[in-house]
Amino acid sequence: MKNVVVKWASSSEDYEWLRNLWTVKWGSETMISHGQSFDITQLKAFIALDQGYHCGALTFWVNSERHCECVSLNALTEGSGVGTALVKAWENWARQQEIQRLWLITSNDNLRALRFYQKRGFRLSRLYPGVIDAARREKPSIPVIGENGIEIHDEIELEKWLTGSQR
Ligand SMILES: CC(C)(COP(=O)(O)OP(=O)(O)OC[C@H]1O[C@@H](n2cnc3c(N)ncnc32)[C@H](O)[C@@H]1OP(=O)(O)O)[C@@H](O)C(=O)NCCC(=O)NCCS
Repeated sequence: MKNVVVKWASSSEDYEWLRNLWTVKWGSETMISHGQSFDITQLKAFIALDQGYHCGALTFWVNSERHCECVSLNALTEGSGVGTALVKAWENWARQQEIQRLWLITSNDNLRALRFYQKRGFRLSRLYPGVIDAARREKPSIPVIGENGIEIHDEIELEKWLTGSQR
């Protein structure tokens, strides 16, 4: 088990590392999710460190209704607790800030993420059929075939309410 420490991304070096992470893992310095384009500099971020080395990151933003979207989550070494540590840090921060709802979008092929989030209390909340096909026309680097050999077409929204004001 890694000895993971989570910190805020704050320095220009942290954001440079995040930019590189997005380019390597998501194919670009910008992310398109639910038709919205995100630049890394617009987002808050937690970075996971293992013995001082960057080993993962979670980026997010908060809207005016105090709903908080995770735009990206990456563990550089999977299955050793990095993702869990980042989601815990995010949720702890959100509870302190009285955020009402955590949410995120993943793609239909990402069975690992669907399992990961559901085991951490997130529920499936919306399906957006075909929206990744539309995003691919703007950002051709989005692959056609994703994880497990599954064609990527759709976005799936997951959410976790932190207050009693659920739908
Ligand atoms: C989804 C993702 C973030 C999960 O991160 P992760 O670091 O692999 O997650 P964890 O290691 O914390 O947990 C994954 C599983 O490994 C298990 N695990 C944790 N430490 C472990 C260890 N030392 N040995 C074996 N298994 C371990 C956990 O128990 C967990 O199992 P569970 O889901 O059945 O509870 C990661 O797979 C990833 O980066 N995927 C690519 C990007 C992506 O899809 N992001 C999400 C969509 S935005």
